[in-house]
Amino acid sequence: MDSNVVRIFDTTLRDGEQAPGFSLTSEQKLAMARQLQQLRVDVIEAGFPAASPDDFTAVQRIAREIEGPIIAGLARCVADDVDACARAVKDAARPRIHTFISTSDIHLEGQFRLSRQQAKERAVEMVSRAKSYVDDVEFSPMDATRSEWEYVYEVLEAVIAAGATTVNIADTCGYAQPEEFGRFIRSIRENVRGIERAVISVHCHNDLGLATANSLIAIQNGARQVECCINGIGERAGNAALEEVVMALKIRTDIYGVDVNVDTSQLVPASRMLSAFTNSPVQRNKAVVGDNAFAHESGIHQDGMLKDTRTYEIMEAAMVGYGSTKLVLGKHSGRHALKVRLAQLGHTLTQEELNETFLRFKELADRKKEITDEDLEEILVRTHAGAMRAISQVYR
Ligand code: KIV
Ligand code: ZN
Repeated sequence: MDSNVVRIFDTTLRDGEQAPGFSLTSEQKLAMARQLQQLRVDVIEAGFPAASPDDFTAVQRIAREIEGPIIAGLARCVADDVDACARAVKDAARPRIHTFISTSDIHLEGQFRLSRQQAKERAVEMVSRAKSYVDDVEFSPMDATRSEWEYVYEVLEAVIAAGATTVNIADTCGYAQPEEFGRFIRSIRENVRGIERAVISVHCHNDLGLATANSLIAIQNGARQVECCINGIGERAGNAALEEVVMALKIRTDIYGVDVNVDTSQLVPASRMLSAFTNSPVQRNKAVVGDNAFAHESGIHQDGMLKDTRTYEIMEAAMVGYGSTKLVLGKHSGRHALKVRLAQLGHTLTQEELNETFLRFKELADRKKEITDEDLEEILVRTHAGAMRAISQVYR
């Protein structure tokens, strides 16, 4: 793989879908997978085949019908899981088995009752088993960021020797801080023998709101795959938001200097589709895909945008699949935006008429959040100064 390309591994249909409120039917999963294919993600994690017959079938259908991306399935380090996963992905043109086991003592002692040695042996055994089915095997040390670093190196070394081609460093509980996580990734590159034979991936959760930041610093320290979800959905506070990671990489090439294969114009369509399928509106101010991401209401911002869009936007709306920037007329708007909107509606007012219309507009905006085109027409009709002109323009 070109080491300058960061692979985008989408886990909306697995980590995202397993979180409360985000479940999808098989048909919806297939439609979402088609959208992810259009988005040109590199890997689609289609589900967890051993979790349920329904999950198995969804992964199998996606593996059979979606061409282009690698199709991955998730499996615990358990023989039956790996076997089920292998059966589910086998018809994909590019199948991947993704297997995982915890490496933190909190998990090993508190949940799985396994010693470190036992966990390492299981990891090696299951990576070898997965490798007997497919060439492309990913291994994740779960809760890696709360694990002893030396033990993580040991496990990674062993699974790479057993054939893992991607090692995915999971910040399962969203505990890592950016500087620390960057150091961890760099230390993995420096301390794991054989690491040059594997792609370093990261999987960051958002419990402290740092999933995107952690993913980006990992890239600066050598990670070349990022696991993420559309709209940042996923367990608890979610996973890194795909749209945020991708746009940061696209907009700040001066810092990251890497390429991504994603067609960014498909980001908003993907976000909207997921939101509709899961009946979960995206927060208005969500980065990149929220309703307000390209909307401006305040007078000073609208004035700047009307003169040069670079004044208050770092990316073009069309780049992420938005129609265009929206200048919302409300109580914070100024005369410039009002004049432009009126002109778009076909009304060219004198300065005096504009002043009077502006006063009435502000009065209404104090009572009503957003002023629509219909409101403007009505203001014009009622404004003494503009009445005749407005009426003749509206009814001509
Ligand atoms: O958060 C996590 O650790 C996971 C693994 C299965 C990669 O989702
Ligand atoms: Zn996860």
